[in-house]
Amino acid sequence: RAGWPGIIHAYSARIPIPQGAEVVTLGEGNTPLLLAPHLSELTGSTVYLKVEGANPTGSFKDRGMTVAITHALASGLRAVICASTGNTSASASAYAARAGLTSAVLVPQGKIALGKMAQAVLHGARILQVDGNFDDCLELARKTAADYPVTLVNSVNPVRLVGQKTAAWEICDVLGDAPDIHCLPVGNAGNITAYWAGYTEYAADGVVSKTPRMFGFQAEGAAPLVLGEPVKNPETIATAIRVGSPASWESAVKARNASGGFFDAVSDERILEAYRLLARREGVFVEPASATSVAGLLAAAADGRVPRGSTVVCTVTGHGLKDPATALEGNVEVEPLAVDPRAVAVALELS
Ligand code: F0G
Repeated sequence: RAGWPGIIHAYSARIPIPQGAEVVTLGEGNTPLLLAPHLSELTGSTVYLKVEGANPTGSFKDRGMTVAITHALASGLRAVICASTGNTSASASAYAARAGLTSAVLVPQGKIALGKMAQAVLHGARILQVDGNFDDCLELARKTAADYPVTLVNSVNPVRLVGQKTAAWEICDVLGDAPDIHCLPVGNAGNITAYWAGYTEYAADGVVSKTPRMFGFQAEGAAPLVLGEPVKNPETIATAIRVGSPASWESAVKARNASGGFFDAVSDERILEAYRLLARREGVFVEPASATSVAGLLAAAADGRVPRGSTVVCTVTGHGLKDPATALEGNVEVEPLAVDPRAVAVALELS
């Protein structure tokens, strides 16, 4: 293997896999931890973006999926199944293809972004559109996996979260210690659980001197953890986190409490503002759900919940190309232009 070997090999001492298992990897992990100058200025802190869209299928799900599919292949079962708002299905279908396994993905009909559907189609997943939301899909996937010889690769499969801990370790390895604050978008609540487990494991082993406060942000129309009760019909432009009944509810609450953090909700409008700001000021194109962490940070900084001078990491969870429709919606100022250098100069306000 050349270069970065993927997270299982990179963190082999901390990621147990079955004896003799063939590692299924697409080279996930080692994503940029990018200083965000504009956000730092706005918040009076040092803000970094953990750019998870740089993973092989364009989201953080690949960290968990390399471990889940490695275990699935070693188990001898030939099929995997997941419920998804789009990114888990893109990742599962890619890693299953790599391993030579069959994948079935259950997605809420009409509610997954175009790019994610394109990925599942091209990787050869059996795509089952469910007349319901993510929570209904997950229930169906769990029942199927309980009754048939198929591996469930949602984050309720504990090895998924083991892989996702590596994002926290990479951050600590680069910064030399844990940050003061970590901001995440929260949907099914697996990722915030995994980050917290990663940080506490490093702290317990003395690799870092502290753990960060965990700030978890949900979309206003899909904010069960903020409300303290499940949301029956979750709605948000950030379809990736359109989840009403998070599977990792209790462990997310534990992470919040033990870290001295909080959950909060942000409106779709604020999410889209952060989405555009990231693209225009930081040069980082993320999908709307990913901008939730940044929208939340800006709101928290504005009302004094982020001490000045803090080191803050915002995970931006998925690539902007996942959802081209939202990028173009209401933003299309692209007019056809005559083939004429003068017209180009005018468009650039150079003459
Ligand atoms: N950001 C993106 C881009 C996601 O796809 C997800 C979850 C999250 C944030 C939230 O992470 O669920 O661990 O709290 N997507 C799942 C999926 C639900 O099916 O792809 P979480």
